Order: sequence, then C-alpha cells, then structure tokens
Amino acid sequence: MNHVLTRAALAAALTLAAGGAQAADKLKVGFMLPYSGTFAALGNAIENGFKLYVAEQGGKLGGREIEYFKVDDESNPAKAAENANRLIKRDQVDVLIGTVHSGVAMALAKAAKDADTTLIVTNAGANAITGPLCGPGIFRTSFTNWQPAYAMGPVARAKGHQTAVTITWKYAAGDEAIGGFKEGFEKAGGKVVRELSLPFPNVEFQSLLTEIAALKPDMVFTFFAGGGAVKFVQDYHAAGLDKTIPLYGSGFLTDGTLQAQGASAQGLLTTLHYADGLNTPRDNAFRADYAKAYKAQPDVYAVQGYDAAQLMQSGLTAVKGDFAKKEDFRRAMRGTTVDSPRGPFTLSAAGNPVQDIYLRQVDGLENKVVEVAVKKLADPARGCKL
Ligand code: PHB
Repeated sequence: MNHVLTRAALAAALTLAAGGAQAADKLKVGFMLPYSGTFAALGNAIENGFKLYVAEQGGKLGGREIEYFKVDDESNPAKAAENANRLIKRDQVDVLIGTVHSGVAMALAKAAKDADTTLIVTNAGANAITGPLCGPGIFRTSFTNWQPAYAMGPVARAKGHQTAVTITWKYAAGDEAIGGFKEGFEKAGGKVVRELSLPFPNVEFQSLLTEIAALKPDMVFTFFAGGGAVKFVQDYHAAGLDKTIPLYGSGFLTDGTLQAQGASAQGLLTTLHYADGLNTPRDNAFRADYAKAYKAQPDVYAVQGYDAAQLMQSGLTAVKGDFAKKEDFRRAMRGTTVDSPRGPFTLSAAGNPVQDIYLRQVDGLENKVVEVAVKKLADPARGCKL
C-alpha cells in the first residue's frame, strides 16, 4: 500500500477539509443599529424582527447557524464610518444589517461598498443608497424617503387641499421626504408654500408652530419619527392646530409611537408601506408570532428587520449555505419575491422594494389601512448606474 498522497489527492483532501470547515462555520451577521437616542426603539424592533424569522427557521439561515455582532450607532453620522468598520474589519462579518438614520446609513453603504461586504438596509430611506451609491451588494428591505411621501401628494390633492406647509428635521431623510411629497403634490396641481425645518434631533417646535398658524395653509405635511414624532404630534395637538389645519405625514409619524401619542394622534392620515388591519394570512401569522415572542405588537421597523432575514434566506438557499458564492448569493436575492407581512414585494434593479403604499388612519393604537394609495410604487433610483 502506498501511503504517500499524490499532489492531486492532497489538493482534493484539502478542498474537502476547507469545505467541511466552511459548512460548519457560523455565518457572521453584523447589526449596526441605534440602541440609544431618539431611534432606539426602532433599532430594537428591527433586531427583534430579524431574529424572529431566524427562530422560525429553527435558528438557521440557509442551513447555517448565525453568530451576531452588534454596534450601537447612536444615530450619529460623525461616528458612522468608524462603527461600520468595527463590523467590517474587526469582526469580519459576512452580511451587514442596518441602519435607521439616513446620514449614518450613507456612510455605512460607502464602507460596505469599499470592502465589498453585502449590506441590507433595514430602515434608512436615503435616496442615494439605491441611487448614486447603488451596487450589486447593496439591498434594502425598507423604502426610499421619496416613496411614502410621494404617495401622499395625490391623496392630499384628492381631499381638495391646494396649499401645504412642510416641516421636518434638516437632514437627508427629512429633506428627501419633503422632496417626495412636493413632487407628488405639485404634479397633482398643489403648491408647497413654505418649507420649515429644525436640526436633527431637536424638538423645540413652538416657534415653527406659531409660523404655521400665521401662514394658514390648507394642510401641513411632515416627516418625523421615533421620539421626535411623539413630541411633534403632541405639540401640534396641544397648540390646537389640528382643529383648523389638518396634519399629514409619512407613516413614521405614527408608527411605534401611538402608545405615547395617545389622544393627540387620533384620526391622523399617513402613507406607508405597512399598515394595521391588513388581515392577510401572512401578516396575521407574523403578528401572532411576534406578539408571542416579544409580548408587543410589531411595527413597520419589525417588518423591515424580518424581511431582511427572509431576503438572506432566499440568497443562502440558492447557494446551499455556501457563502463563498457571493455573486450567486446576491443575484438570487435581487431576483426574489419577498413574502413580506406587508404584502409580497420584488426588488428594483437598484435593490429597493417595489411596493404598495397604504393610506392609513390612526384609530386607537392602530394605523388602520384605509386603501392602497399607490400600487407597486418604484423609486425612480435617480443616479444609480449598475
Ligand atoms: C431615516 O433617517 O432615513 C429615517 C429615520 C427614521 C424613520 C424613517 C427614516 O422612521
């Protein structure tokens, strides 16, 4: 018997060993999310949603166990590149999941692209991520800031509103949401007469509310989210403005916030890619599972996290868990239809959901679906070259 391995046999043995080790290795998933500050609840909901889907798959994706890495990005753009590189360079994650704040997400997308690490954006709507920053490894399971806000334009016009004042935080998400609303509203024949803003994440709204009262527009359109949204809706109501000038917004204004907003939010109309009362078997099952796992109702952020795990599952199934097949993994993700609780959606060439935008109305602790405001709305992906 010749025990000397030929060169070919040795190579084959090494390949087998490498393959075996690779299959046994855990998949490294890095959460870059806000776990403190005005968006802390949003970050937690995203993580909960992601982990719920993984738990439903028996704790694995594509047959691989998962090892999680976490960074609290504090919704602080100044620390974003450093935080992203902790996950990319120090922890060497396979996939990045994050984040909430658009400014932070743009730095995250740049770092992910530089390192060719796959990124799934689970909230931040920065248009640029699936615009000029788009790339084969960049995905989003949420929305662009343009999408839900644009959809409110025709809805508000159909209600007979001719003039609007807008108010938001002065940063990418606020500016782009206002831009989306303005485009939809003015295309339908309305006019935005004044654009008001304050720095992120300030909540001193009083002087701006006084200005709105003096301007007397037909309506106000706003983008606020998280803790800031709670305070804005309360202040608008306390000033008595809601009696004379109806308030509209992208749905973040009233998502995950209703418990705190209480009476001040009742009746508000918003547009978003998720709603309460969809009453589909898919959504009902998701909500029941989420409530059981976390003793809380899911919101849009939980859905976006859940769908990021679903998207990963579709890619990993296609490559049978072999993450080394990065290109095939990405191609499969881009071509999939995500069976989301919000309703099934596909991804655009730029990697952003093509999705229905719902008109919702606050009723008690729910954003009840009224109707589909715009069906299968695709972001224009301006500036994306693939
Ligand atoms: C964003 O910064 O893109 C952002 C933050 C919170 C939201 C929505 C968008 O609820």
